[in-house]
Amino acid sequence: MGSYPALAVILLFSATLFSRCNGGKVLVYPVDGSHWLNMKILVEELHSRGHEITVLRSNTSWYVSEFSPHYSSITVPQEQAQNLESQSFMTNFLKRSLEINQNKGSLWAFLDFYNHLFTMMYENQRIVAKLVIDIFENKTMVEELKKTRYDVFLTDPVFPGGVLVAHYLQLPLVFNVRWILNGDAHFAFAPSPLSYIPQLFSSYSDKMDIFQRINNIVYHSALVYMYYYVASPPYQAVCDKYFGKDVDLMSLMQGADLWLMRVDFIFEFPRPTMPNVIYIGGFQGKPAKSLPKDLEEFVQSSGEHGVVIMTLGTLLNDIGPELSEIIASAFANLPQKFVWRHNGKRPDTLGNNTMLVEWLPQNDLLGHPKTKAFMTHGGTNGIYEAIYHGVPVLGMPLIFDQYDNMVRLRARGVAEIVEVTTLDVDTLTSALKNFLDPKNPYKQNMMKLSELHQDKPMKPLESAMFWVEFVMRHKGAAHLRTESYKMPWYAYHGLDVMAVFGAFGLLIVTLVWAFCKCLIGRFVSTKISKNKSKSE
Ligand SMILES: *[C@@H]1O[C@H](CO)[C@@H](O)[C@H](O)[C@H]1NC(C)=O
Ligand SMILES: *[C@@H]1O[C@H](CO)[C@@H](O)[C@H](O)[C@H]1NC(C)=O
Ligand SMILES: *[C@@H]1O[C@H](CO)[C@@H](O)[C@H](O)[C@H]1NC(C)=O
Repeated sequence: MGSYPALAVILLFSATLFSRCNGGKVLVYPVDGSHWLNMKILVEELHSRGHEITVLRSNTSWYVSEFSPHYSSITVPQEQAQNLESQSFMTNFLKRSLEINQNKGSLWAFLDFYNHLFTMMYENQRIVAKLVIDIFENKTMVEELKKTRYDVFLTDPVFPGGVLVAHYLQLPLVFNVRWILNGDAHFAFAPSPLSYIPQLFSSYSDKMDIFQRINNIVYHSALVYMYYYVASPPYQAVCDKYFGKDVDLMSLMQGADLWLMRVDFIFEFPRPTMPNVIYIGGFQGKPAKSLPKDLEEFVQSSGEHGVVIMTLGTLLNDIGPELSEIIASAFANLPQKFVWRHNGKRPDTLGNNTMLVEWLPQNDLLGHPKTKAFMTHGGTNGIYEAIYHGVPVLGMPLIFDQYDNMVRLRARGVAEIVEVTTLDVDTLTSALKNFLDPKNPYKQNMMKLSELHQDKPMKPLESAMFWVEFVMRHKGAAHLRTESYKMPWYAYHGLDVMAVFGAFGLLIVTLVWAFCKCLIGRFVSTKISKNKSKSE
């Protein structure tokens, strides 16, 4: 009986504790494809904590479904689908990217690559900006959104449509982010010395020689050009029209309350950062569940050799028949078993040690004790799952950030890269043999990395939830944000201060000079007058 009051106090206390952020309203503006896969994890977790989620989606969306037990949706009709939402577009984009990569290193390939990228980016941004205008122009929808009084707006700013909508609705803004329009999001808010921070598409590590550092600036310049002349103009036009000419897109992004950054520094090279950045890299990590029966039987049948999991991700599951045959033949040469996510035609050279599947329970397979290696295109969702389960990665990077991601893993000694454009059966077979050889330390290194990754005061997903709710409770987190983004560029770089110091220095030098001149003049004239009086 005596413990009841204590119990009641505890219950009461925990009730008030939880009620403080229970039942918040969250408006989510996602980006489709693999970006939605990780946004969905946050949405489901927020839902399970009692928040009410509304997702803004386009009717052309490929992955974001209209109906879900976890959220309600508002669908915006859009005549043209974003190109990243179309399987046929991505297959063509991939084909062309691989062609360009075949001449890698030449100036022509460099220009061709950026031209190809810019065209794709421009098209996509134009369509996203159009979607934002359609939202702004639908007064019923805007009224509805305003009336609901959301507590927080959650978006991925890689295509910053959501940033504009959040500004229009004047809501506290939280990003689930790794990229913005012009590469790594850190470049938007933190000092980013190019001497040790490799730029996107450079495929350098954080140790660069002088030539690499020169090239790094060239890669950086290409992205700066892309931002100002290709990617941001469609959004800037929306800002000009709806917010006024003095509002620019970059400062809207920099004004976000909180950046949930999908980065962990066991993977990314260490770099300067800011207090309103919360690192949630690997937040998708969770223990494996048991496999479906047929898959479990297949995996067990691998015996001591174990299995290798192969997938090229959500957007890129058709790499063409030529590459597929090479991969199938190489797999057939090895004693291991292979589970391969493959949606194209069944390769003729497929060995009986390889199982083709249209979809695979990736996390459960990676967590299986028989799994020896993970072959992947190098998307971060898969990479973090592999790190979580301690499975070394053999990368076949294809496009976007994938090569750079693999470079980061290789620098940690847990991965190797196979060049897709020069691939043949022998190189892939020997690369796999070498990679699976237990004498090589890939596995030990990855186990160590996994241990470091999981040794944290708070799980990344819990941390993400805490901070989203923090923003809901306090209606923002402006106190964590630097004021740097409101400064003009010359003030940010201290050029005005330097100019003042320069002017001051110049003044002193002039004064000293004038003083000396005057002194010397006087000295000379007294000497002359002395000499004069002597001679007289
Ligand atoms: C989306 O809505 C637009 C405009 O109403 C329509 O033209 C288009 O066919 C729709 N697309 C899909 C995939 O439903
Ligand atoms: C505007 O939004 C409302 C509510 O979301 C929707 O029912 C309506 O179809 C939209 N109108 C147009 C022209 O898209
Ligand atoms: C798989 O193929 C190899 C060689 O082609 C053969 O020796 C082996 O018996 C086959 N295994 C099964 C289970 O069919």
